[in-house]
Amino acid sequence: MYLGIDLGTSAVKTVLVDSAQRVIASESRPLTTFSPRPGHVEQDPAQWIDATFATLDALKATHAGELAVVEGIGLSGQMHGATLLDASARPLRPCILWNDGRSAAECRVLERRWPALRATSGNKAMPGFTAPKLLWIATHEPEIFAATKLVLLPKAYLRLVLSGEAIEDVSDASGSLWLDAARRDWSDAALAATGLSRDHMPRLVEGCAPATTLRGELARRWGMTGQPVIAGGAGDNPAGAVGIGAIRPGTAFVSLGTSGALLAPTSRIAANPDRAVHTFCHAIPDMWIQAGAILSAASCLAWIARLFGATEAELLAPLGLRPQAPSAVSFLPYLAGERTPHDDPAVRGMLDGLSHGTDRGSIVQAVLEGVAFALADCRDALADAGIAMTEADAIGGGSRSRFWLSVLANVLNVPIHRFAGGETGAAFGAARLGRLAVTGEAIAAVCTRPQRIETFEPDAGLVDAYAERLPAWRELYRPRH
Ligand code: XUL
Repeated sequence: MYLGIDLGTSAVKTVLVDSAQRVIASESRPLTTFSPRPGHVEQDPAQWIDATFATLDALKATHAGELAVVEGIGLSGQMHGATLLDASARPLRPCILWNDGRSAAECRVLERRWPALRATSGNKAMPGFTAPKLLWIATHEPEIFAATKLVLLPKAYLRLVLSGEAIEDVSDASGSLWLDAARRDWSDAALAATGLSRDHMPRLVEGCAPATTLRGELARRWGMTGQPVIAGGAGDNPAGAVGIGAIRPGTAFVSLGTSGALLAPTSRIAANPDRAVHTFCHAIPDMWIQAGAILSAASCLAWIARLFGATEAELLAPLGLRPQAPSAVSFLPYLAGERTPHDDPAVRGMLDGLSHGTDRGSIVQAVLEGVAFALADCRDALADAGIAMTEADAIGGGSRSRFWLSVLANVLNVPIHRFAGGETGAAFGAARLGRLAVTGEAIAAVCTRPQRIETFEPDAGLVDAYAERLPAWRELYRPRH
């Protein structure tokens, strides 16, 4: 039996997976995000721990027998967050998240101080990444910077609490800017450019390698007979890739979570930092992931549902299964700024083309289309790096909407496939990594492709209609920096 724990942005999700790779049980607890100032986005690390423990306590209440025989645990997590710990491994302040835009000036400082940043990390310095956040702390909260002894990404902090050891996997570490992506090791020069050294960093492991074990007292709390191995795990996007068996070149996929991404596994680095393409080590050795990342995807749907005082299902139902034509309204989904391709933390969203005739349905459709257009920008940025996409699988909460996947198929002009249970992708991928760390099985034998339950084919008329709209949609963007 294996556990996958995904420390997401909106919730912690824990799944219990058996040796036949069936999800036996799943528990989730919500997380709160707060914004102390415009553009600042933070979470309390203590809440991650409470939420994770609550999912495991709940599993113990319903599935004690299965939990007792867990052998391996995999962790997945929201990427890039800066969790700063003091000498006693206590958080010094709330975690600054992946969608926090405060450190734009520090990105420019970092690129000046360390000109090899793009060549070494495969990434452009963007505020979502971890390193510029540390420069911001050094300037604005110098006493906290001075007290910082360890910098951990969210799931590495969770692992520290679960195991007592500070360890990170190379996929999540790639999102820090401190990693040499080709060597899959910390870059001393990158760390020095932010006034840090390896002493401030956790030990690195591959995602499917055994990293440590669960503390004895926690294993006893959850009634486990042994002390399960904890794998390296992965950032949520690479973990999602493992969950759907996207472990080879040519297995691109689109993730519609709180954030969105178009991701392509590659056997060599194909970076395009100038267009804000992300380079991550994959969660399996000798593979990488090139990604276009957008900061708001399913969160746009959640936003419009709040605004209309309706549930997402209530908003989606009247749209039917597929669009008849593009909405008359256009939407820029930059509610939290944007990364690929603009790298503009200050830009904000927009609804354009409203009239007396505009109804709720055309606004909801525009919101879904705006996210799809932003993913078309990601596709083009990846194409510039030589990565062509002929089809894509869809994962994340947003992939439950058939209408949205149909829009995507037509905007991207490729077939989009859907899986049953795609929304548990990252946690399921993490459980697979937990299994690999215990059994040492062949990666391809475990990371199989789940059965696709539905394919959304592009329709020539709609493809043309959306292609006509795309240039006007792009025109709406006005840089803010
Ligand atoms: C990826 C990114 C997000 C977070 C949160 O670069 O910032 O996908 O991992 O899900």
